[in-house]
Amino acid sequence: MPRAYVFDAYGTLFDVHAAIGRHRAAAGPDADRFSEIWRAKQLEYSWTLTLAGQYVEFWTLTERALDHAFARVPSIDRALRQRLLDAYFELDAFPDARATLAALKGAGAATAILSNGSPRMLAGAVEGAKLQGSLDAVLSVDAIRMYKPRPEVYRLVTDRMGIAPADVVFVSSNRWDVMGAAQFGFRAVWVNRAGLPDEYLAPAPLATVSDLAALPQIAV
Ligand code: LAC
Repeated sequence: MPRAYVFDAYGTLFDVHAAIGRHRAAAGPDADRFSEIWRAKQLEYSWTLTLAGQYVEFWTLTERALDHAFARVPSIDRALRQRLLDAYFELDAFPDARATLAALKGAGAATAILSNGSPRMLAGAVEGAKLQGSLDAVLSVDAIRMYKPRPEVYRLVTDRMGIAPADVVFVSSNRWDVMGAAQFGFRAVWVNRAGLPDEYLAPAPLATVSDLAALPQIAV
């Protein structure tokens, strides 16, 4: 059994499309495209700001990305803005998140989150999904003011948890995050729920699973 399982938050433990999911009827037929733009822009801002040597916290990027999505998809009623942000602050966890964390902890592993999310938004999501009892640590990039996949971000885990990279199983649904984690030396696992084609081929993940429930069963 590895010493620690460290999870990406948004997209991996928490469903980033759950916010629009709660307001799908009000959002109308462009809901999915709107949510994809919201997520894509949120991530793009994190990458471009980090490349430029700037930092703006993830909640503000989430708001800016939402405003961009409203501008791109005029059919979505802007009156939904606050309701979507409230839903994002307490995003639904994927149905297998809590049981998986509990199973890994029960088997003697440490469990943690390493996320771009600000400490405040991570606390909101973890408490909303009642995951606090299943996590030993919640680590935010905010401590070093740069975003994934900078190696300094993954080093937060080894520094804060006092653990070697080879003793960390890093789990993410974001293929680019898996690449960053594998390059840092973590035992990286890709959660490919949507059956997406592989990309960022090297270094390869140790394993690919289709949901979190498969994690306690696989040998990593
Ligand atoms: C996170 C981003 C990648 O939680 O969604 O770090």
